[in-house]
Amino acid sequence: MIKLSPSILAADFSNLSNVVNQCKQAKVSMIHIDVMDGHFVPNITMGPIVVKGIRSIAEQKLDVHLMIEKPEKYIKSFAESGADIITVHIETCEDPNSVFNQIKDEGVSAGITLCPSTSLEKIEDYIDSVDLILVMSVEPGFGGQTFLPEMMSRISEVKELVQRIEKNRPEISVDGDVKLENAKEVLAAGADILVSGTGIFGTLDPVKTMRKFLAFG
Ligand code: DX5
Ligand code: ZN
Repeated sequence: MIKLSPSILAADFSNLSNVVNQCKQAKVSMIHIDVMDGHFVPNITMGPIVVKGIRSIAEQKLDVHLMIEKPEKYIKSFAESGADIITVHIETCEDPNSVFNQIKDEGVSAGITLCPSTSLEKIEDYIDSVDLILVMSVEPGFGGQTFLPEMMSRISEVKELVQRIEKNRPEISVDGDVKLENAKEVLAAGADILVSGTGIFGTLDPVKTMRKFLAFG
């Protein structure tokens, strides 16, 4: 069973309750929330207050992707705002294990991610300490970019690494220009979760599009 995590970055911010309602109608189980600080990435987006607002109207798991410096300073606040999964960038963690422990101590699932330009080796030592590995298929910072073709093989490499773990294997999520046209290939490469922003909310009928995604598996 595939999981879809619609990225609200591409949705209509003047009507977030409608966006959550669309996710509910399509019966997706997660919502992806991109947090950007203007330092780690050039863009600025949402903070805990927005997560809290979405939490108050959403039943789905809130999949919070932190693209921020010093994530350890904000984990408590995002956890208290209702995040179910908090994913941090390896590039921002001085002591990754302590960050994962901090997330887990809040009762939240911990995810690790890396920029396409970062070597996969940088996360290898941590993959059995997390619940989720997010493979970025675009450079973080903006929605609506183009899938970097060389990231398709990274998904398979992560899958191979994960399969060596005996128990509690982390799920593999893929984020960046995932759309109906490439979803099958991304799933075949090893993804368990598809994050999609423009591929859903940039279409004429987001609910129908989400249902088509879910029909892939
Ligand atoms: C990019 C974000 C993505 C983005 C995906 O930094 O992490 O989650 O919203 O958007 P699309 O699907 O439009 O590439
Ligand atoms: Zn994201």
